Amino acid sequence: MPAQPLRLGVNIDHVATLRNARGGAYPDPVRAAILAQEAGADGITAHLREDRRHIIDSDIERIMAAIRIPLNFEMAATAEMQAIALRHRPHAVCVVPEKREERTTEGGLDVAGDETRLADYIAPLREAGARVSLFIGHDVRQIESAARIGAAVVELHTGHYCDLHAEGCIAERDEELRHLMAGAALAQALGLEVHMGHGLNFETVQPIAAVPEVVELNIGHFLISEAVFTGLVPAIAEMRRLMDEARSALA
Ligand code: PXP
Repeated sequence: MPAQPLRLGVNIDHVATLRNARGGAYPDPVRAAILAQEAGADGITAHLREDRRHIIDSDIERIMAAIRIPLNFEMAATAEMQAIALRHRPHAVCVVPEKREERTTEGGLDVAGDETRLADYIAPLREAGARVSLFIGHDVRQIESAARIGAAVVELHTGHYCDLHAEGCIAERDEELRHLMAGAALAQALGLEVHMGHGLNFETVQPIAAVPEVVELNIGHFLISEAVFTGLVPAIAEMRRLMDEARSALA
């Protein structure tokens, strides 16, 4: 069976981080979203955090008005965020764990430990037509639980894989990749669409892009950082090229 096409979701949160550092309107994440679309992104991802440290409420509205490609709205499982998602009705909602003290989303959502509440939480989002994605680790319990509560998508957290690569722990990194591959296969067998993301860069993207069940990667911090040196369009184009190269090797 030929591998499914691989989509690239560009997370533009950190354009807003830079803007907020000075409190004005520049650089505008909406401009980044439009450029990402022109550069071949298949979707835009934005995480409205409870503390609004990067994306703010009005960005969501402005991004949705400015782009043709779908918005993947990342959010914590709170009543406030559910109301915002139901108001804006983005194409996809990715539910992530969120801690105020963390610098970035550190781990996956504990779906298995909070199954009843999360099932109730995502039901209105599903009814409103959003593709609900749960950001989880690769463990079997979490994947099975995500399928049981009716999520359409799981996004498997690649942060640990990327950290192990950066630390030069090659055997552990490869073991983590095997777990991600097994998780992707299980998720697909249970009828879930499989996405992956967090921490990916030019060095780590190809083994992840070569996991045949994965249909979308969400990448942010590295692309925005690389854009400082090369520009956003070349950074996205190179990421796209590496993804396509890894994918074509599967055909
Ligand atoms: N996917 C999810 C669910 C995330 O929370 C994030 C970070 O906001 C990403 C992907 C992108 O991670 P990074 O910015 O490290 O590429």
